[in-house]
Amino acid sequence: MRISIFGLGYVGAVSLGCLARDGHHVVGVDIDPTKLDLIRNGQTPVIEAGMQELISGAVKSGRVEVTTDAAAALRATDLSFLCVGTPPRPNGSQDISAMERLCVELGKALRDKDGYHVFVVRSTVMPGTVEGMVRGAIEEHSGKRLGEGFGLCFQPEFMREGSSIKDYDHPPMTVVGGDSPRSVEAVRGVFGHLPCHFHETSIRVAEMLKYFCNIFHALKITFANEAGRICQALGVDPHPVMDLLCKDTHLNISTAYLKPGFAFGGSCLPKDLKALTYVAKHKDVDIPMLRGVMASNRAHIDHAVDKVLGENERRVGMIGLAFKTGTDDLRESPLVTMAERFLGKGLDLKIHDPEVSLSRLVGANRRYIEEVIPHIGSLMVESAEDLIARSRIVVVGLKTRELTAALQRCLTEDHVVLDLVNLPDRDKLRGRYVGVCW
Ligand SMILES: NC(=O)c1ccc[n+]([C@@H]2O[C@H](COP(=O)([O-])OP(=O)(O)OC[C@H]3O[C@@H](n4cnc5c(N)ncnc54)[C@H](O)[C@@H]3O)[C@@H](O)[C@H]2O)c1
Repeated sequence: MRISIFGLGYVGAVSLGCLARDGHHVVGVDIDPTKLDLIRNGQTPVIEAGMQELISGAVKSGRVEVTTDAAAALRATDLSFLCVGTPPRPNGSQDISAMERLCVELGKALRDKDGYHVFVVRSTVMPGTVEGMVRGAIEEHSGKRLGEGFGLCFQPEFMREGSSIKDYDHPPMTVVGGDSPRSVEAVRGVFGHLPCHFHETSIRVAEMLKYFCNIFHALKITFANEAGRICQALGVDPHPVMDLLCKDTHLNISTAYLKPGFAFGGSCLPKDLKALTYVAKHKDVDIPMLRGVMASNRAHIDHAVDKVLGENERRVGMIGLAFKTGTDDLRESPLVTMAERFLGKGLDLKIHDPEVSLSRLVGANRRYIEEVIPHIGSLMVESAEDLIARSRIVVVGLKTRELTAALQRCLTEDHVVLDLVNLPDRDKLRGRYVGVCW
């Protein structure tokens, strides 16, 4: 293919070398003439393992040109990668001024170009940037419409500095969000051969994903380091601890616990988190991230409570009281906390939880209801149908086939449903649907 690359920093220069190596004709564009001179002379503009050989080979192949002339590059190619920098400003906000200037330039250049052109943004940008600023600037300055004169994609770049050529050839996955199948297929033509899954998604999901991938990595490093500091203070070697932690691929290194939903609770997670943060405090170990976990969990409960209070309706029904589906354990249940908050605000509350039905409860949990939260025990109703019929807002904290069926059967257009569990078949629910964090 004939491909242009705008911005020849780490991402752009590595892409230029690899694409030319793979047989594409590549035109590289940068505003920095030093970088262009280096490439013309077969030298790499960035220091990376294998880059010198890659660039000199690519230039020798005759398949690489570099220029400062964006319009000429656009005219000579069918697909462009936009790889300019998006650095942080002093206050942390993202500076996309280079991308803005580039899009104006590309729009003007597109005005005089015949034929369809696909723009693929590789720079990390906030969700909405491609469909907002990038599309707006190109449409305004080219006079052409998205889908007619040009297509747009966002493809997050997963390479890491230091191993970027290896990462280019073996990415964890390829993800492309595009305005149309035509645009996505153009990108598949370039990356479809890579030994990884090719995921097609929306432009906004692709933009957002890049942030959460990087932040997840930062979070993992910080988790391991805070674990290390606690271990050190307690005289435990953190290496076998974390090695063994990583061996659990069911719950630890897995997709478990990575789905947006409601707050955590139960008899183990809050208790052990509190005990460990207490020990750390006692030993003068500063662990801001782990210390922040309970606070974040409380913020999540506050967020759900605010969604209900914001409706200004008194009659609230909660489905679920135990801390998760499939148990009757009420200790540290965030749904109990939520119920207490509603009572404190004087709402007219009823609760249904088939596992916590008082008639079935025995032993410790019966005692817990009778002694610790009797005010909540008295609000339990036996049938989901009755609960829905007497409520204006239904808070769903349990996901079972029976309860989902009852919701589909009994909700009316007058209901508001606050979903804490990502209910299936949302289109079958009547009333106004509100997701807790979606
Ligand atoms: N570096 C990485 O490992 C990495 C990995 C994934 C994603 N990203 C993202 O990719 C983007 C680029 O990162 P980078 O590290 O390659 O940046 P960089 O700062 O190394 O390079 C950006 C290049 O863009 C050029 N440029 C600026 N305005 C231009 C214009 N109008 N026309 C042509 N060129 C222009 C600059 O001169 C510079 O050479 C950023 O958004 C970054 O967050 C980087």
